[in-house]
Amino acid sequence: KRHLISAADLTRDDAVLILDTAEEMARVADRPIKKLPTLRGRTVVNLFFEDSTRTRISFEAAAKRLSADVINFSAKGSSVSKGESLKDTALTLEAMGADAVVIRHGASGAPYRLATSGWIDGAVVNAGDGTHEHPTQALLDAFTMRRRLVGADSGLGRDLEGRRITIVGDILHSRVARSNVHLLNTLGAHVTLVAPPTLVPVGVEQWPCEVSYGLDEVLSKSDAVMMLRVQRERMNAAYFPTEREYSRRYGLDGDRMAKMPEHAVVMHPGPMVRGMEITAEVADSDRCTAVEQVANGVSIRMAVLYLLLGGYESAAPSRTEENK
Ligand code: CP
Repeated sequence: KRHLISAADLTRDDAVLILDTAEEMARVADRPIKKLPTLRGRTVVNLFFEDSTRTRISFEAAAKRLSADVINFSAKGSSVSKGESLKDTALTLEAMGADAVVIRHGASGAPYRLATSGWIDGAVVNAGDGTHEHPTQALLDAFTMRRRLVGADSGLGRDLEGRRITIVGDILHSRVARSNVHLLNTLGAHVTLVAPPTLVPVGVEQWPCEVSYGLDEVLSKSDAVMMLRVQRERMNAAYFPTEREYSRRYGLDGDRMAKMPEHAVVMHPGPMVRGMEITAEVADSDRCTAVEQVANGVSIRMAVLYLLLGGYESAAPSRTEENK
């Protein structure tokens, strides 16, 4: 059975196949009818135990563009609030014939549990679990970097080789950072993490990246700078950094952005807290890819659903299929 639980599980060939398939899927968005019949008759369940704007909506858009039926489940307003377990929720979805379950959960490891439990038969896709991983975010980030830094028709594969990516902010609580470190390393990029010492995870020296405590030193050497939100909801209030101190040392404003090479881009997975980790001037500048990342997320999630549920044998939708 095939699942997508962790970016660390992806080989270079897997990652490149997904990125290349996403390029094919992006062409569907440019057509007057933005749909392929590939997953007609299949059911995708979005199972969200934590809040989401971008990931939930883009998985829904992706599944619908592939003609799948979509069921959206949000823990808020469900029987989870009455004490129903993940197991019983999963068995309910299985009874409804889910072919794929896209799960976001506050507990690191919940998607792995679902994939290995035998409670459901379908493919499991991790849409963010606790502070562990968010693999489709890393894939859409790599897709965006590849398009911005190299170009869409670049021959693909090894094109992030040697690129220097800086990830800044609350690394401790960031599943986005962890997935990006794994995937970018697999694709041959060099990653530097920048964070206050209190927001660096224990054991980071085992990660395939460098760590720096000063932002100004690394900006001029970065091809992409990815800003992360400080996740106050996962912190004890006593450890909140003050907004002014944090943005003074780790926020990206226009002056700092000017230190980046001309070709370098600013990325943010969202949600952004303007005035904290990024100023409005930077967020709204042409160099910031935040909105592009959201659009690219639909293509990546189409590729993932397509490869997991239908199309692994042939990576690209056939011309006949495209014309249906
Ligand atoms: N980037 C991201 O995961 O955003 P959401 O929490 O809105 O899905």
